[in-house]
Amino acid sequence: MARSSSIFVCSACGHQSAKWHGRCPGCEEWDTLVEEARAPQGATRSRAGTTRGGVAPLVPVTLGQVQAPRVARLSTGIGELDRVLGGGLVPGSLVLLGGSPGIGKSTITTSAMGNLAASANKVLYVSGEESAAQVRLRAERLGAGALAVPIVAETDLDTIIATIETERPDVCVVDSVQVMHSASLTGAPGSVGQVREVAGRLMNLAKRLGVAVVLVGHVTKEGALAGPRVLEHLVDCVLSFEGERERTYRTLRALKNRFGSTNEAGVFEMREEGLVEVEDASARFVAEATRAPGSVVLCAMEGSRPLLVEVQALVAPTELVPPRRMANGVDRNRLALVLAVLARHAGIAVGSADVFVSLAGGVRVDEPGADLAVALAVASAVKGVTLGRGAKPLAAFGELGLTGELRHAAHPDRRLVEARKFGLDGVLCPGERLPTLRAALQSGLSQVTPAARAA
Ligand SMILES: Nc1ncnc2c1ncn2[C@@H]1O[C@H](COP(=O)(O)OP(=O)(O)OP(=O)(O)O)[C@@H](O)[C@H]1O
Ligand SMILES: [Mg+2]
Repeated sequence: MARSSSIFVCSACGHQSAKWHGRCPGCEEWDTLVEEARAPQGATRSRAGTTRGGVAPLVPVTLGQVQAPRVARLSTGIGELDRVLGGGLVPGSLVLLGGSPGIGKSTITTSAMGNLAASANKVLYVSGEESAAQVRLRAERLGAGALAVPIVAETDLDTIIATIETERPDVCVVDSVQVMHSASLTGAPGSVGQVREVAGRLMNLAKRLGVAVVLVGHVTKEGALAGPRVLEHLVDCVLSFEGERERTYRTLRALKNRFGSTNEAGVFEMREEGLVEVEDASARFVAEATRAPGSVVLCAMEGSRPLLVEVQALVAPTELVPPRRMANGVDRNRLALVLAVLARHAGIAVGSADVFVSLAGGVRVDEPGADLAVALAVASAVKGVTLGRGAKPLAAFGELGLTGELRHAAHPDRRLVEARKFGLDGVLCPGERLPTLRAALQSGLSQVTPAARAA
């Protein structure tokens, strides 16, 4: 009987089985068997010139003796993308670009390939999700550069690898990892085994030929899907494209980068002509700030770059028990903490009201430095007053401690410089003058636009 080319291995205990079982026969855990390609026969056999036990030992060399030629990075022609990558694509690296459906992964990769082709790099676009004609329609939107990108529409991994070996591109996009299929496994495309196999083989290929491979992957809202999550340890760089499809602004972040910092983030806007970099995002967000009760400008840090973004809060009485707590762009648990500190240490209780907090433009801020701005926005909504004097909104940053104290947030100077650039003076931030949330609220609620107080 022909030997099957795959085996099922338990991810908990390592038990191997020729067939799939719902429950591992080894450790009796449920749903842990993952399909893997069987190693080719003889792969573990001895090599020529063997000594002990049939295996030739290696001779270690010091790191100083290791040859490491400096290879130039490839610029994608998209400044924000290059910055997030740590200065461009590294030849021979495997980059995973994850994001929810429709966020713009194919758009940004097609634009980047167009730019790379225009600067005399050999590129290849492998589309498994869309036909070549569909990709062309998108490329028409993106301009002449994108139309020069060579494309193959294929989902069979062996065919794709053979094509890359023949074409020898400098950069190759594989869109997406979930639809690619290796014939050596029986699992459906997108299953954990298939996704790992596809990524593993493309990784080998990238290292062997020096091709930079950009692997596109979908993540669901929970990020739980077989896909990007199971690949994070394998690839060199994980980029995450975030934002909401319905909103214009999208953020690109590096979650892992073997060749650069993971602090960088890029802001993009989806337009007719594709994803456009928003170089001065702060200017947009400050100009768009609503100047109404419940609105405060947060001086946030996006990696090493300061970003001014509007925090909006709405507090509405409710009969619901427990009342609703909705957070858009800030962590829900962080909002709960801010509300608890507001109630306990500043006398602003919202126990019988729904609270909605949202960052404008679909931006997401994960740092605790956002606490004070959220607290001020909620207080402003509760009191029904517009914070800030004259035409300029009130700006703030700082972390809240559980005892109601204001704590230092990273890079205060950069945040203040950014705020000043847009004419926002009197930024409320932790310091001797404002040691506690109560003091910050007093100061904030005294800076009220007179007309708004009457309303
Ligand atoms: N003419 C247009 N003008 C502006 N935005 C557009 C236009 N056409 C499409 N879009 C935007 O592009 C998005 C789709 O982009 P793209 O196909 O690159 O996303 P994706 O992340 O690759 O999606 P998928 O998960 O389906 O592969 C749409 O959600 C829409 O916001
Ligand atoms: Mg796509």
